[in-house]
Amino acid sequence: MMFFGRGSPQLVCALVILLHAGGAVGFNSTSGAAGVRCIERERQALLMFKQSLVDEQDVLSTWGSEERRKDCCSWTGVKCSNRTGHVIWLDLHDKSLSGTLSPSLFKLQYLTYLNLSWNDIGSIRIPESISSLKQLKYLDLSVNRLSGSLPILLGNLTSLRFLDLSFNKFYSVENLEWLSHLSLLKYLDLSGIDLSKVNNWLQLVNKLPHLTNLRLNSCNLLDVIPQPLPMNNSSISLAVLELYDNNLTATMFQWLFNFSNSLVHLGLSYNQLQGLIPEAFGNMIFLEELYLSDNQFEGGIQKSFGNMCKLRLLDLSSNNLKGMLPDFLGNLSGCLELTFESLYIRNNKFMGPLPNAIRNFPSLKVLSLSYNRLNGTVPNWSGLLSELEEFYISGNSFNGVITEAHFSKLSKLKGLSLSSNFLSFNISLDWIPPFQLDGIYLSSCKLGPKFPKWLQTQGSFLYLDLSSNEISDTIPDLSQNKLEGPLPLFPANSTSLSLSNNGFSGKISSLCSITGNMFALLDISFNQLSGELPDCMASWSKLEILNLGHNHLFGKIPIFIGSLKMLETLVLRNNSFSGEIPWSLGDCNHLQFVDMSHNNFSGPLPGWIGERLVNLTYLLLGSNNFYGDIPLRLCQLTKIMVLDFSNNTLCGNIPWCIDNMTALTKKENLVDDHWYVLYLGNNVRRGAAYVDKAYIVWKGTEYEFAENLKILRLIDLSSNNLTGEIPQQIWSLFELVQLNLSRNQLTGRIPADIGQMRSLESLDLSRNQLSGRLPSSMSQLSFLSALNLSNNNFYGRIPLGTQLQTFSPYAFAGNSALCGPPLTPTCPEDEKPSAGCGRDIQDDGDEFWKGFKPSMELGMAFGFLGVLALKLDHPWKHVCILLFNYMKIPLNNLKGYLYLIVAALGLVVTVNATRLRRKFRF
Ligand SMILES: *[C@@H]1O[C@H](CO)[C@@H](O)[C@H](O)[C@H]1NC(C)=O
Ligand SMILES: *[C@@H]1O[C@H](CO)[C@@H](O)[C@H](O)[C@H]1NC(C)=O
Ligand SMILES: *[C@@H]1O[C@H](CO)[C@@H](O)[C@H](O)[C@H]1NC(C)=O
Ligand SMILES: *[C@@H]1O[C@H](CO)[C@@H](O)[C@H](O)[C@H]1NC(C)=O
Ligand SMILES: *[C@@H]1O[C@H](CO)[C@@H](O)[C@H](O)[C@H]1NC(C)=O
Ligand SMILES: *[C@@H]1O[C@H](CO)[C@@H](O)[C@H](O)[C@H]1NC(C)=O
Ligand SMILES: *[C@@H]1O[C@H](CO)[C@@H](O)[C@H](O)[C@H]1NC(C)=O
Repeated sequence: MMFFGRGSPQLVCALVILLHAGGAVGFNSTSGAAGVRCIERERQALLMFKQSLVDEQDVLSTWGSEERRKDCCSWTGVKCSNRTGHVIWLDLHDKSLSGTLSPSLFKLQYLTYLNLSWNDIGSIRIPESISSLKQLKYLDLSVNRLSGSLPILLGNLTSLRFLDLSFNKFYSVENLEWLSHLSLLKYLDLSGIDLSKVNNWLQLVNKLPHLTNLRLNSCNLLDVIPQPLPMNNSSISLAVLELYDNNLTATMFQWLFNFSNSLVHLGLSYNQLQGLIPEAFGNMIFLEELYLSDNQFEGGIQKSFGNMCKLRLLDLSSNNLKGMLPDFLGNLSGCLELTFESLYIRNNKFMGPLPNAIRNFPSLKVLSLSYNRLNGTVPNWSGLLSELEEFYISGNSFNGVITEAHFSKLSKLKGLSLSSNFLSFNISLDWIPPFQLDGIYLSSCKLGPKFPKWLQTQGSFLYLDLSSNEISDTIPDLSQNKLEGPLPLFPANSTSLSLSNNGFSGKISSLCSITGNMFALLDISFNQLSGELPDCMASWSKLEILNLGHNHLFGKIPIFIGSLKMLETLVLRNNSFSGEIPWSLGDCNHLQFVDMSHNNFSGPLPGWIGERLVNLTYLLLGSNNFYGDIPLRLCQLTKIMVLDFSNNTLCGNIPWCIDNMTALTKKENLVDDHWYVLYLGNNVRRGAAYVDKAYIVWKGTEYEFAENLKILRLIDLSSNNLTGEIPQQIWSLFELVQLNLSRNQLTGRIPADIGQMRSLESLDLSRNQLSGRLPSSMSQLSFLSALNLSNNNFYGRIPLGTQLQTFSPYAFAGNSALCGPPLTPTCPEDEKPSAGCGRDIQDDGDEFWKGFKPSMELGMAFGFLGVLALKLDHPWKHVCILLFNYMKIPLNNLKGYLYLIVAALGLVVTVNATRLRRKFRF
């Protein structure tokens, strides 16, 4: 309208453009003076595109074919050219769309802007017809479920300035040559695509003269430094470079420092960078944010860092850096002091006190110092650091008393973590803090025995960790609030609540105030909570970790458990739950860890577990009242590593198909940690949200296995009524570490090939009716450190070798006719053929055996644990691969995007960046 309303020169000009741009189009508008309307052919294309989408939230309700909805230019997300009427703009990002990507979209040849990011749109490949979008300048398909190879024809989109294909499910890329045709590209993001086979990625990138933003996170990049560097390497000037989570080493610095004069934002966290942090970083005088966390940097921090006058954020977390914190801050001082905002040095080896020099940084918002070796008292910040939003000092050696005065000026504080120091607290009962926190980490702070009342003034926290505080109080009743207005203790949108190891009593239904659909972690283990599982739990559909172990809970597992579809860990251990395991639990097919032991569950063992809980790795059902056979279908649990059915009344045979449990036959890391990976658009961070723990009886003593659980593989079927023989195939469980079949009614012989179970460290077959000779292969069980074959009907010579003779005679006691060392010096056949080596010998030995007992137990306790200590070096060790299988939870009120990828589940959460970040930056 505005356009045609003007003088004729423009009109002529418009006609020329129209005819040139779309000869077939013509003036097909119904608009008259109201402007050019939708072109029928494009409308049809859009409708077809809509047809292949699933639009559960009906965000495309304006898209339709009825008369009143005919104008596609006014549809949600669509914009047309004022001049030509063509659809030139389609923006449907973050609209909860799923379904598939229809090629009809690419009939919109005049599109200049296409953004479908943050949906759940799938496709087995990007249709090649995408190459017809010749005018496209902006293409964002990130965070969807597109698959297949990247079409080489993307190279025909030569107008592109912006290309983001990150976090889909594309295949590993072999060839990126097409990139070189996109010479106008300014922004490129291929994060999450495996580029390990592209060994010229650096050269290709160097050929994009206008490139200023490059993001290649989690691409499996290896350093491929061309020798010599290409001549035109300095022709690009990157301002933003992110290469998080790759396999880059210090050789990449050679290339990197070409951009010293242009970089504003640099992210190299989660790589293999080693050695001292190069002095040359100091030359990056425009740098504002520098992320070097989770590498292997050593030494201190260079004086030259003080030259980065624009630096606002420095993240050096999780390296091997050391030195005195005061010196470190001294080196940082210089031109940046007044504007510097965020310091992350968590998880290093810095020492010394929190220095007074901190006064020189008045703009500090984040001070993340947890897990270092800092000591001394925590200074009272009154009047200082009034901008502070996050203060994390967990896991140091700070001492002294924390009082209200410490916080009097910290009205902006949002995240507080003081866990695991030597601090004590002197805070009055009626204190009303000046802040509203959303992350509170006060684990192991000796806050008990009373519940810290001031927490009730905090109405909107997302994360609360009060574990191990010796609090013995009821979970405060929501209706009785000392303060004005009903402020629920557990805000509706809590996402993570850990109250384990306290003395909380009262009903578990107190937690029902939590209604938000972000609730992901609940750990209230080791308290005194009682009651049945409340119906409100059914709405916690995003729950991944549910640990209710060691309380006084009772009743049946409700059917609604099946609505907790994201559950990975379910711990009900040591309560008084009863009834059968409901079939609906099979809907929770992400479950990896299930511990229901020490309850009163009954009924037959559910065979469907084998078919439906395909990823189950730990299944602990011991000390209940399960009865009947062990279903053969359980053999389908190919990922099972720990199977504990002990102390039930199971009968029948041990399943012959047990060797189908292939996790027990192969050495392979199957355990996905509950690691969380954050992509904050400009920052990546991983954190351990939760570590599964199992309590395993190891040679008569119960041990807690946590980190070391990942290498434990065991079967415990002891104390049941199992009959029949031990399956012959059992020898193929090469990786089994502990096998306990004791206290059953098993008959027959020990399988002859048992010696092949080369990882076996503990074997208990005692109190059965096994018979025959001990197979000679047993002497090859070289890791065996605990053995009990007592009270069976074995006979003959104990196989000679270096192994079996080291055990106490107790291991062999109660067998009618075993002989040879360590039971008897010789066997009858060695001497007088007439003397038996049965009863007499056992009686004889009683006194003699007692002497062995203490030494045997010592040996046991150290054997396995010693091996564990050797195998586990670093908690990150097993975490390298991210899965890119996304789901998304939108939240309102966003400032920046943050992508939370739960590695184990492949979950993406969109949320306010600063909030979630706190979860991981204690
Ligand atoms: C113009 O509209 C008519 C009737 O709606 C349709 O048949 C024709 O294909 C349209 N032309 C173009 C170029 O879209
Ligand atoms: C097109 O029309 C819209 C709405 O009438 C207006 O806001 C916009 O500025 C126009 N664009 C051009 C390039 O004239
Ligand atoms: C893509 O571009 C190449 C030249 O770069 C051309 O030969 C080819 O026909 C184009 N393909 C399509 C589908 O446009
Ligand atoms: C990257 O490094 C990890 C850990 O060192 C290693 O397991 C992986 O194989 C490496 N990837 C490539 C492609 O070399
Ligand atoms: C802090 O630790 C260092 C050595 O680790 C020690 O020399 C110093 O006395 C400690 N300071 C305080 C205040 O405890
Ligand atoms: C959580 O809920 C509280 C109160 O309902 C609200 O003030 C706060 O903004 C919410 N937080 C988020 C992250 O949505
Ligand atoms: C089981 O685990 C595999 C590999 O980790 C994963 O790809 C798959 O999605 C998981 N299945 C379920 C139902 O969680």
